[in-house]
Amino acid sequence: MGSALAEVLRDRGFEVITTLTGRSPRSTEYCERSGVAARKCLADVVSQADVIISTVTPDAAVAVASQVRREAARLDASLIYVDANSVSPQTIGRIADEFQDSNIQFVDAAIHGLASRLKTQGTIFASGSAAGVVSELFGTDVRVRILGGEPGNASLMKMTLGGMSKGIIGLFLQSSLLAQHVGMADEFCDELGHYYPDVLNFVERSLPTFGQHAARRAAEMRELEASLSVAGLPTGMAVELSRLFSALNESDMAAVCGRGVQPMSLKKLIELLSESRLSVITDRLAATVV
Ligand SMILES: NC(=O)c1ccc[n+]([C@@H]2O[C@H](COP(=O)([O-])OP(=O)(O)OC[C@H]3O[C@@H](n4cnc5c(N)ncnc54)[C@H](OP(=O)(O)O)[C@@H]3O)[C@@H](O)[C@H]2O)c1
Repeated sequence: MGSALAEVLRDRGFEVITTLTGRSPRSTEYCERSGVAARKCLADVVSQADVIISTVTPDAAVAVASQVRREAARLDASLIYVDANSVSPQTIGRIADEFQDSNIQFVDAAIHGLASRLKTQGTIFASGSAAGVVSELFGTDVRVRILGGEPGNASLMKMTLGGMSKGIIGLFLQSSLLAQHVGMADEFCDELGHYYPDVLNFVERSLPTFGQHAARRAAEMRELEASLSVAGLPTGMAVELSRLFSALNESDMAAVCGRGVQPMSLKKLIELLSESRLSVITDRLAATVV
């Protein structure tokens, strides 16, 4: 996602920098491909950037914010920090606390939609008093929706939309694998297309992307669980979705679908998912109520 955002920003005339210290060769490759200039260390980024956008893995969001706060304090730097990770409003609260009494203005942002379709189908939600900077940066090249002055609103929107889209996939997997179990997967897909064509269309586009994104989506479902728990709402659905996506990640679905998010016939995918080498998923589903 970082490189997709960087490409849009560079096209709009902004200089985009990062640091690759501690990063894998994959990140270096993405940076080179999207024309992002690498600085030697985080201190160089903090001293040179007007705006820092954090797109790391959800479980690294707080640690990265904390590193930036420490460097900014040491260098007496003023900047805007945008957390664009898929984290819960509670995690956003912890990040906002990091920046209290600092020279850093904090924006909660959350991205809905795949990186590969950022410009055509993505939305960046933003909230917090400096949220307007996201509109200034992305203009009309990416859909931006400002959700008020409170950090947490953008992340909550992402959690709710994410719960919907991932819940549909969980429900589809459970139903289709049951149909496959009795040899009726084809008939099930036909009927799904007859009664719920939009759902079938969405599943066909989304399910193959789990080969690449299952681990990240499992982490997102843990963040959704935290949000539901704080609101006093039942967490069971989020818990089971997180387990299910972890199982997909442990399976060889990535090898089957490829990391490049290749489109694949749904019927073929169901067939593959129900084969014994992917039985970790079916076993897990047997114990799952989504
Ligand atoms: N991809 C999407 O379509 C999409 C859609 C909506 C939202 N998002 C959100 O965008 C964020 C990034 O997602 P992604 O798909 O781009 O993930 P990704 O492909 O796994 O990339 C994560 C990047 O963060 C780096 N990173 C991990 N831990 C770090 C740390 N402690 N300090 C600094 N950098 C660290 C990784 O570096 P190394 O791996 O090299 O160590 C990698 O470059 C996530 O919060 C995700 O939920 C992504």
